[in-house]
Parts: sequence; C-alpha cells; structure tokens
Amino acid sequence: MKRREFLTTSLAVAAAGFAPRSSRAADGLVEILVNEPVGEIAPDLHGHFTEHLGGVIYDGIWVGEDSKIPNVNGVRKELIDHMRHLKAPVVRWPGGCFADSYNWRDGIGPRDKRPTNTNFWANDRPLWKAPDGPQKFETNTFGTAEFMRFCHLCGSEPYLAANLRGLTPADYDGWVEYCNSPAGSTTLAKIRAGDGSADPYNVTYWGIGNESWGCAVEFRRWISWVPTYGLKMRYIASGPGMAADNAGEEWTRGLFQELNAKDRRFLNRIYGLSLHYYCWTAGKGDSLDFNVDDWYQVLLQSDLMDSLLARQWVVAGEFDPEHKVKFVVDEWGAWHRGKPIDPRYLFSYVPSMRDALVTGITLDIFNRHAEKLAMCNCAQLINCIHSPFIAMEEHFAATPIFHVFDMYKAHQGGQSLRVVASAPPISFRGPSEPERRRPTPPANDEERSFWGLAGSASLHGKNLVVTVVNPHASEQRTADVSLRGASARSARVTVLAETDIHAHNDFDHPHAVEPKEEPANVSGSSFAWTFKPASVTKLEIELV
Ligand code: AHR
Repeated sequence: MKRREFLTTSLAVAAAGFAPRSSRAADGLVEILVNEPVGEIAPDLHGHFTEHLGGVIYDGIWVGEDSKIPNVNGVRKELIDHMRHLKAPVVRWPGGCFADSYNWRDGIGPRDKRPTNTNFWANDRPLWKAPDGPQKFETNTFGTAEFMRFCHLCGSEPYLAANLRGLTPADYDGWVEYCNSPAGSTTLAKIRAGDGSADPYNVTYWGIGNESWGCAVEFRRWISWVPTYGLKMRYIASGPGMAADNAGEEWTRGLFQELNAKDRRFLNRIYGLSLHYYCWTAGKGDSLDFNVDDWYQVLLQSDLMDSLLARQWVVAGEFDPEHKVKFVVDEWGAWHRGKPIDPRYLFSYVPSMRDALVTGITLDIFNRHAEKLAMCNCAQLINCIHSPFIAMEEHFAATPIFHVFDMYKAHQGGQSLRVVASAPPISFRGPSEPERRRPTPPANDEERSFWGLAGSASLHGKNLVVTVVNPHASEQRTADVSLRGASARSARVTVLAETDIHAHNDFDHPHAVEPKEEPANVSGSSFAWTFKPASVTKLEIELV
C-alpha cells in the first residue's frame, strides 16, 4: 500500500498500539523530520496563570497557616506537590483584569494591617448571590510576599502584571523596588524583610498592563526609567485578544508602528508581546453536558491558535524583521459554563476529556511554533477556566488537563522538529457564523471539517518525544509513523484515552481519568501505531 493512501476505518485493526508495519494498512501518517529543527521549546511554554478571581487564590492556592487543610506556610500542599511534579516553570499573577485594578501596596506589610477593598470581579452577578468573601471583597491576605512564597515552593519563576490602568509609572517603579532592591537598601526593602524576605526576589518578568487595549503608547512611558538593580528586565507589552473572527493584527500593527515611530530601539526593549486566546462553543456551552458536534467545535476553535500565531508573526515581521520580539501567550484555554466547583468560585467548572484534547492540541501548536514563543500561560491554574486543578476545603483533584501537561513536560527544553501528520478529515455540524461570545448560540447548521491526526516532536540528544492527538470521538486511527533521518531502538508509550468523551475527575472520583502506559515493541525508521479514539498519546523514542 502507498504511504499516503488512506483506507476507510473499517480496515483499521481492532487492537490499539503497536503492530509491525507490514502486517497492517495505515489510514494515517505521522512523519517526523529529524533534520528539520524549528527552534528550542522554552520550558516557559508550560507556564500558568493565577488571578484574584473566584476560588483561584482563596482557597485554591492560599488556605492560611492555621488551616486544617495540609499546607506549607499557608499554601495548599497538594497543589505545591503537583506543581513540582509538573516542573511548572513560571506563574503569572495577580491577573488578568484584576491586575489593572490592583494596588500592590495593599498587599504588603503585616497582614492584619492590610486593607480590605472591592474586588474587580465583584460586579459579576453570580458573585452577588454568593456569600461575602475575597471573591467580592479582597482582604489582601495574599499579596506579593505570599505569591513569591508560592512560586518558591513550586520551583516556579514569578511573572508580575503591573496596573497600567489605575497606577502610575512611579507606582510601578515602587513595586520593582519592593521586589528587587538589595537587602536593607530602601524602606521598601525593609518592609519586604518584615514580610519574610530580606533578600530581593529578583523578579524579571513584568507585564505592562493586561488587555490594555488603547494604552499602547503608555508602554514606552512605563519602561523608560525603571530601576533595574543590575537585572535584565523582561518586559511584556500588552497585545491583542485574538478571536476566531479577528486575529487582532491591527492592534499589533498599531503598537509596533507607534513604538517604532519614536525610536526603533524601543522594540529591542520588549521581551514579549502578550497574546490572549480563549476557545469555546458559541454561547459558551456546558463543560460536561455537550454533544459530539460541540466536542469537535471546541477542538476546531482551539486549533485556530495555529493560524492566529502565524498571522501575528507576519505583522510583527513588518516592523521587526529579525523577530527579536517573541510572543507571550499569557492567557489561553477553553472557556465553558458549568456547575461551579463551589458557588463562590466565579468561572469555575469541572473540565473533561474535551479540555484534555484542547490542551494537547494547543501544546502541540506551541511546539510547532517554538521559534516564535517565549512563554505561554494556561488560564487559570485552579478552580477557574481550563484548570489543571480543582479544590474546595480539604478536597483536591488533578483534572485531565493536568495529565496532558504532565505528559508533555518531556518536551521542555527540547529541539522542536517539523512534523507532518495526516489522516482522513472528520465531518461534523457546526455554526456557520463566527463563534463569538453571545447569549444565544447560532444553530449548528453547516457541515464543518476537522483534521484527523496532528502532533509535534522534540529531540533531546538521543531521545525523541512525539505527541499525537486523535480527535475522533469514536474511531481509532492507525498511522504509519516515519522517522526521517533517524531510527528507533525502543519506545515507551503513554496514552490518555477514554471511551466517554465526557469523562472527568472530581472530588468523588479524583483518579477516574489517568494516562496509562502501553506496551510498545518499536524499532527501525518506520512502524505503525494505532491511536485510540479521543486520545492524547506520547511516544518517547530512544534513537539508535
Ligand atoms: O481569565 C479571565 C479573564 O479573561 C482575565 O482576567 C482577562 O485578562 C481575560 O479577558
């Protein structure tokens, strides 16, 4: 049979897993071009995002030193353990929208002296039905020192988002001084010592605003004379929110034009351009109650990240041909509605296998665009949108999203390689109009199509890591896996797959969805592999 000739799925063999190439016909292809490197996969592409929103901080992360919930200096212990296991490289804080209303001065000094003020999200209607608490009125118990403690315990770097809307550049300089001035050198350094750290935190990732659409020129004003304390500061400029029907190219063009107009060197001072992209079914459907068309619709929406990055890159290249400015996708994920984890937790819901596949599709896209990306942050870490973790009081569960991050951490620091994957496309019914936030979803009235297999690969010396998503809700795909320019000695295969696409973990069943190892007798430069329906697969291949 010719390599690119696809047979119908009825010819696919029954058992998933490895089979010698000659014994079966392939209905797909996964070709890894070992001699075509794309760029290094920065570990920071596996970053996370935390905001003072609903149950993210209180009591997702912070339970307090006196809590009966196991904690390390007030931080939920199970979360720390899982973050360390993930090798979570970086965490963004304190928002999001909250960041542009946050005064960092409210969150320093003795905790019992900190003010309580109205949370940015307080006006959200479900919140007014909820009991009072930090989700409505922010106690500032969790401030800069507590966030640094959290990062330190997790082994992650802090990425702080400064308030561009409500504060001034001088206020921002003050926050840098609180974080980074040498021990004992300034009044703020002494306050920091009282908060638990005489030594500076040496924060270098600084976001200047969040979704500050309209404040482009402010960026220049803000980063002009920041005290650096000898550190190489990495400023992240607020870029566009990308949507299915609008890649936000005009925003990027406007920002780069404006920065270039005064002095071309300003572009060199931007470490990254922040991009946000959320996917959803039209009208933001339920997280667990969805049909097969909704399944494909969300996966297709998540896949748009691929073209959105490519389009943004073209615009950036018009002004920055050497591409010194990389992208920082500091908010991404699938955003659904659903039964909240706790009524007080705004935007919380239980994620399913659908969200696991969104994670695999997105992380594969990031790998394939490794040369463009400096950092990415999944939104948000716990009890919120697209969360790897859910927690309430002493209950805790890692979601299928966590398991995909865990599988993909093997890519961190590797050399991304070009991958060509194909399989028969999948047809489904979807809305004809662009999927925008709207109260009434449009009808699924059009025939839509989605790819049959996709993935990414990274090289780490003699080890090759290949990840592949089979989005088909019910059919397996047998693919001819070809290593162009290399040969396999052995492989270890891990699969996250469920027959029910709604499968999920919750407090009663925290281990319902977990990846499993599959036996793999793989060798040579070409072999067949059967990818289970609705699955994410990782092949860790030792090369000859
Ligand atoms: O993640 C929730 C919100 O979505 C963030 O606060 C904001 O930046 C984005 O619009």
